[in-house]
Amino acid sequence: MSSEVSVAEAVRVRVAGKINLALRSSKRRPDGYHSLATVFQAVSVFDEVEARWAPPGRFSVRVVGEQADRVPTDESNLAVRAARLLRDLVAPGPVGAELVIRKTIPVAGGMAGGSADAAGALLACAVLWDLDVSPEELGEFGARLGADVPFCLTGGTALGTGRGDRLAPVLSRGTYHWVLAFSEGELSTPEVFELFDRNGFGSPGDLEVPAGLLNALVAGDPHALGENLVNDLQTVAWALRPELETLIAHGTELGAIGAIVSGSGPTVAFLAANEAQAVDLSVDLSCSGLCRSVKRVTGPVPGARLVS
Ligand code: C5P
Repeated sequence: MSSEVSVAEAVRVRVAGKINLALRSSKRRPDGYHSLATVFQAVSVFDEVEARWAPPGRFSVRVVGEQADRVPTDESNLAVRAARLLRDLVAPGPVGAELVIRKTIPVAGGMAGGSADAAGALLACAVLWDLDVSPEELGEFGARLGADVPFCLTGGTALGTGRGDRLAPVLSRGTYHWVLAFSEGELSTPEVFELFDRNGFGSPGDLEVPAGLLNALVAGDPHALGENLVNDLQTVAWALRPELETLIAHGTELGAIGAIVSGSGPTVAFLAANEAQAVDLSVDLSCSGLCRSVKRVTGPVPGARLVS
């Protein structure tokens, strides 16, 4: 590399977690996946992925922050896989990367934490290595790593079809105030889908998200949004974790205008009418003893973005 070219020593990317405002699922497909019609919203709980130069062919990751001990740091780490994939597909010469992930998004919580880290690693390494790669290409590479990765790159509010990886923007006005209730423990997405299949769940026909939900987003009407939240996986998450049903009933009694298990759970997203109600709700839920911790967030927010 020429001495006149300035090379970034470290690149930091901030990337948001997601909730699913609607999640409709087909029966299991022959490839093992489920066709989805889902509305994602990125919310203000963030992981940070930092990438630094490493000797060619060397890839490592260190994970710090909440639940860091639950994230693998070997070759199975999705951020490492993302960096290697980008190297294989685009890097013109031998490169390596040292990654640091600062976690806040819950691990295996239904908020795409692993996919967010993969999205962050794709963007951070693309900038670090100064690659000529478009956002669309990053999205295509992301889809190879996980169905939620393309959305984690873009953020905002979007309709996901296919495996959830084919995105179309959804018009959404205003800011929504959510209280996230993080549970003790995790739920495995494959296990949730497996129980979904064993129960014979899944729509045989065309999948549709509620028109009322899309209209609520266009109108910026939180009450209508709260009434139209839907998740086909929720019953299965409740069966595996019965306390989630109790938690949702409790939050609703406390005045939440909507409540939904996010993705395959166990995180529950409670919708508040405004910021003041979200403050009250988060205090009351923290005292309930029904969840590990509570976080007040807003959405929509952007997806993976450079911090420095
Ligand atoms: O795509 P990702 O690796 O994040 O998905 C994790 C698992 O979730 C898949 O292996 C599959 O079992 C399940 N899944 C699915 N249908 C989808 C998305 C995920 O069955 N559309």
